[in-house]
Amino acid sequence: MKIIRTSNYDEMSKMAAQILEEDIINNPQITLGLATGSTPTGLYSELIKKYNEGKISFEKIKTVNLDEYVGISPDNKQSYNYFMKENLFNKIDIKEENTYIPNGLVENLEQECQRYNEIINDMPNRVQLLGIGSNGHIGFNEPADSFQEGTNVVDLKQSTIKDNSKKYFDGDENSIPKKAISMGIDQIMSADKIVLIASGKNKSKAIYDAICEDVSPNCPASIIKQHPNVTIIVDEEAAQLLPKDI
Ligand code: GLP
Repeated sequence: MKIIRTSNYDEMSKMAAQILEEDIINNPQITLGLATGSTPTGLYSELIKKYNEGKISFEKIKTVNLDEYVGISPDNKQSYNYFMKENLFNKIDIKEENTYIPNGLVENLEQECQRYNEIINDMPNRVQLLGIGSNGHIGFNEPADSFQEGTNVVDLKQSTIKDNSKKYFDGDENSIPKKAISMGIDQIMSADKIVLIASGKNKSKAIYDAICEDVSPNCPASIIKQHPNVTIIVDEEAAQLLPKDI
């Protein structure tokens, strides 16, 4: 496990963008496993910049997103589908048919999970980008008694409802969906490489637990230390509880 400490959010974003740039240049047909939330927006801006400068192309790239809320349409501004278009896809040369995100509006959620499982199984050479929830969730895999396998429907924890409604639903806990579809932990772990980014002091406990505590489904992110190729990029605030020698 490689841990990179950066001084602030911008540096974290630039560092992550540099890693993905190298991966894209080394393999222009790579699959990018993508994340949403406030953490990766700076990284996506950096990737757009690199695309505009002609350094990278997404023409042959496929993307597979981690998750989506249940019950809101892809056109809804609060959907992760919309987020990805606004923050990345509409600003680069990726082909729409090469971008995959669960559809939270389907009637049969089980079938949608199955469809997504098949999509992920079909995607070799994946670099998986992750953020982290303040409770240690990755994707929408919430703390639980066991690690979730396969794409699954999740009941969001109250802490996640609170965190995410503050950022994206005007603080209205009633309007945020209470369920989501998420890539499973085994599917995250099946990526060839994992890059996790974290910024801010509200992530410091989750980062400490993920890196320093034993692997446990109570902190889903803790499992990534079992992956053979993982890089964690943290800013100073997210790293504030880590021992100095890490
Ligand atoms: C969301 C997403 C995660 C994301 C996390 C952190 O719930 N499902 O993929 O990593 O929460 O979000 P943020 O980056 O906004 O703190």
